[in-house]
Amino acid sequence: MSDCCFEACQSQRLPDPEDETFLAVRNLSVHYGAKVALESVDIDIQRGRVTALIGPSGCGKTSFLFTLNRLSDLIPGCGVGGRVRFEGTEIYSDGVDIGLLRANIGMVFQKPNLFPVSIRKNLYLPLREHGCPVNQLDRRSEEVLREVGLWSEVSDRLDASAHSLSGGQQQRLCIARALTLRPKLLLMDEPCSSLDPMATDVIERLILKMRGEYSIVIVTHNLAQAQRIADDVAVFWCHDESGCVIESGHAEAVFRAPKQPDTVAYLAGQRG
Ligand SMILES: Nc1ncnc2c1ncn2[C@@H]1O[C@H](COP(=O)(O)OP(=O)(O)O)[C@@H](O)[C@H]1O
Ligand SMILES: [Mg+2]
Repeated sequence: MSDCCFEACQSQRLPDPEDETFLAVRNLSVHYGAKVALESVDIDIQRGRVTALIGPSGCGKTSFLFTLNRLSDLIPGCGVGGRVRFEGTEIYSDGVDIGLLRANIGMVFQKPNLFPVSIRKNLYLPLREHGCPVNQLDRRSEEVLREVGLWSEVSDRLDASAHSLSGGQQQRLCIARALTLRPKLLLMDEPCSSLDPMATDVIERLILKMRGEYSIVIVTHNLAQAQRIADDVAVFWCHDESGCVIESGHAEAVFRAPKQPDTVAYLAGQRG
């Protein structure tokens, strides 16, 4: 790996975030015991936009997502340094309400991770946990199922097992479950990688529909998908076996005229 990656990381330095910045990440690092997974990451995530994280496997994209709503707290041996400021709140400061943070910043994983209960109960569970009045559970469940385009497909079998749904439907139910709590930001870690092209297309359309009302950060290894759906892009890379961000900006600009040689090679399919 050339030194230019490290220089690229350094040249990414952004000024201190303003209070109105939606989500600002400064000098972020992640380690697992002695292993440094991510170093010196500076990114501003913009409200209402779709930000795609691309780059080879093992460069810290998932680790990065996990820091944004402190899921990293749950991983044994995982340490996080630097700052993440979400709507003016330093999320790693003392006294942060982690439950509220995760309600505001929801997560959708690579494989649908539904609870082994009914479709209905998958939606009720987070709603109940966050104090939704009993008489509003059905209304809110219907709302989110409509939002993800599932209502017409499942309204007559809400008490069927969530696992009886197709893979694409399960992933949309996972998105619906995250939406129950009205998050501002949705983190998606390769949400289509286990889906067929038709189901992938449905999810992509959904992401484009949600853009604006929600902000989305999505990891994808599918460059065509990133080009179809992303407003902004961050390119992750590995330097001396630790990850960093070598380039970020408007998707159209990064795809049309990447600045870093490693980005050029990656986009050309020559690296990674
Ligand atoms: N729980 C963990 N314990 C130890 N190392 C980990 C753990 N999770 C990830 N890593 C390591 O951190 C690096 C970044 O991983 P990850 O964030 O999953 O990258 P990506 O999502 O880009 O593939 C990799 O070297 C990976 O092996
Ligand atoms: Mg990953």
